[in-house]
Amino acid sequence: MTALFPTASPASTGATASPLAPSPLAYVPFVSVDKMMRLVTTIGVETFLAELAGYIEADFRRWESFDKTVRIPAHCAQGVIELMPTSDGALYGFKYVNGHPGNTRDGRQTVTAFGVLSDLTNGYPLLFSEMTILTALRTAATSAMAARILARPDARCMALIGNGAQSEFQALAFRALLGVTHLRLFDIDPKATEKCRRNLAPFGFDIRTCDSAEAAVEGADILTTVTADKKNATILSDNMIGAGVHINAVGGDSPGKTELQREILTRAGIFVEYPPQTRIEGEIQQLPEDHPVTELWRVMAGECPGRTSAGQITLFDSVGFAIEDFAALRYVHDRLERFGLFDKLDLLADPDDPRDLLGMVLRSTGGLSNT
Ligand SMILES: NC(=O)c1ccc[n+]([C@@H]2O[C@H](COP(=O)([O-])OP(=O)(O)OC[C@H]3O[C@@H](n4cnc5c(N)ncnc54)[C@H](O)[C@@H]3O)[C@@H](O)[C@H]2O)c1
Repeated sequence: MTALFPTASPASTGATASPLAPSPLAYVPFVSVDKMMRLVTTIGVETFLAELAGYIEADFRRWESFDKTVRIPAHCAQGVIELMPTSDGALYGFKYVNGHPGNTRDGRQTVTAFGVLSDLTNGYPLLFSEMTILTALRTAATSAMAARILARPDARCMALIGNGAQSEFQALAFRALLGVTHLRLFDIDPKATEKCRRNLAPFGFDIRTCDSAEAAVEGADILTTVTADKKNATILSDNMIGAGVHINAVGGDSPGKTELQREILTRAGIFVEYPPQTRIEGEIQQLPEDHPVTELWRVMAGECPGRTSAGQITLFDSVGFAIEDFAALRYVHDRLERFGLFDKLDLLADPDDPRDLLGMVLRSTGGLSNT
């Protein structure tokens, strides 16, 4: 790892350091929302998505080198907060993420997130980052990565049902990775659809806005569902699913929160991230525990087939897995030095004598006070 904060002493630089100034070891690079937005616009959103998909694919290809665990949730009636940790034996990453479908009613996001990437050998964080934008990017990149191996190669038209915060990222990733050119949008809230159409229009898509999910899926090769509702919803019903489509089901990602009618699942080839988590959170929570599913990483490793015929219905039952966030944090970390789009966060206490933590506190105030 390159040292972002060199440990040159004040004596060697000729500077006079304040005794209270944080030392280089105290700093962690922090990518704020502002810096993340600048990183995305500097790199270009489609380039970012394509490069990020490369990082996610690289980590899926070494799946077996990761510690894997079902994410740790705290549920309430309104939503869920989840911690998503993983490690590859050298680096450790975790994400804090929430999902509260009613949040937009009072101006909050449905999904917000932040995360940390650390050096496993000394436990020191290498990056602290906003991950609300990064989650939308990594979710879309993962969806498109899966579709690239599961959708028919000639797929160019995508239905996009649910036109909230995640939706445009999905469209852009499918354009960048698969060459999707035609979009059919639907949301129960026409204002969301209009926002989505307006945001995507400059990218040159051929966009049709639709007044029902049934209308949106007409003629579409790929069906993306990315709605938010804390219930077992039926966004797609069995009669809407024609031969050969690829379904990218993103919004069903929590117990009791699904988007597809059960009958679709029994007709589809189902591909998942980490089965123990998807069986709890994904569309397949509607199926018996032993219903066969294929792990996406095994398709990438050449161990299992992806799509087996042009007429097969394929389903990526996306819930979001920690390795995708780990890859996203690696991607951002690898771009810190080049773009310089981070702040120095004084996060880690760093006394001159590592065992003299109290002494550092006392020196900061000029003496001990017990009042
Ligand atoms: N699988 C993953 O990795 C992953 C990652 C991020 C978010 N998500 C999930 O994706 C979903 C969307 O997230 P978001 O941030 O875009 O939420 P959002 O609240 O910004 O947008 C959701 C949209 O869905 C629409 N909607 C709700 N019910 C609908 C219905 N029956 N038909 C059509 N549209 C409907 C809403 O009107 C809203 O515009 C959430 O459920 C979230 O938990 C999944």
